[in-house]
Amino acid sequence: MVKIDLKLLKKESEKEIEKAGSIELLNEVSKKYLGKKGKLTLVLRSLAGLSQNERKKVGTEANELKIFLKEKIDKELEKMNLVGSVNESEWIDITIPGKKMHSGHLHPLTLTKRKVEEIFQSMGFSVVEGPDMENEWYNFDALNIPKDHPARDVWDTFYLRNKLLLRTHTSPVQVRYMEKNNPPLRIIVPGNVFRHEATDASHEFQLFQIEGLMVDKNISVANLKAIVGEFFRRFFEKDIKFRLRPDYFPFTEPSFDIAINCFACQSKGCSVCKGTGWLEVAGAGMVHPNVFKNSKLIPKDWQGWAFGFGLERLAMIKYKINDIRLFRSGDLRFLNQF
Ligand code: PHE
Repeated sequence: MVKIDLKLLKKESEKEIEKAGSIELLNEVSKKYLGKKGKLTLVLRSLAGLSQNERKKVGTEANELKIFLKEKIDKELEKMNLVGSVNESEWIDITIPGKKMHSGHLHPLTLTKRKVEEIFQSMGFSVVEGPDMENEWYNFDALNIPKDHPARDVWDTFYLRNKLLLRTHTSPVQVRYMEKNNPPLRIIVPGNVFRHEATDASHEFQLFQIEGLMVDKNISVANLKAIVGEFFRRFFEKDIKFRLRPDYFPFTEPSFDIAINCFACQSKGCSVCKGTGWLEVAGAGMVHPNVFKNSKLIPKDWQGWAFGFGLERLAMIKYKINDIRLFRSGDLRFLNQF
């Protein structure tokens, strides 16, 4: 009796599942057979009244049917989902492209600084740092710029209340380093410097400098030219014409300004080079004996050169940037180009 019921039940339920056609009807069919008071559920419940043998046989069959029906209903539901009869709110379009993650990137000045460091490190230079907040001794006196000397006017200085100041150049690190390290030595000193200046397209009150210092027994201007030339070639990735012209810095003797050929006009003279055909990129010179003395070295024992590059200037030339203020403006339209 029960056995017939099961076969019938299978036929009947299969047909109904196939005919259902919607999720609601399928749910109803599922309830009709598998629900709490469903037809199959009742059969399973009635097993208790059967003999052990029959219970085993019928039980197995009934359970198989239960699994069969569940799977069939699931399959049918799945089909309907694919056809799109599912509720709008449950619909997930797996083909929509995902939201793109924004990843940050390095600031152009950081990129430039890293490139400069890499080039000098490959030529045996160590990268050294010094404090942004300096005292007058290291920023001026030790560099042969005594109090009341007119040369101090070259660097308009932010003086702080605690007798300190914001360093106006990275040159103080020459003395700080030589006090603690004996030559021979080769270092570069990247760092921020500050000047109390009005800003325009080529002036900022905060700048980034790269100081260079090489000291040994027989160092000459030829060494300076060789190193600087090699640096330019690697940094600008082309052959660069550059020149040294006499200049004045109290902490070097002789002193030079270093300028490179103007890219923008091939040295014919344009607005970028202000008609001169040359772009100034650094101050340099042979270390003054007084700087050695102030660093507790014996001047006649050593020779050396030093330079100070403006990093913004290098980046502006390399990337053709026409306003120095862009670097610290925080303008994403500018920054996202790097
Ligand atoms: N410190 C100088 C400046 O900021 C540049 C410089 C560095 C010149 C080293 C000579 C030697 O103007």
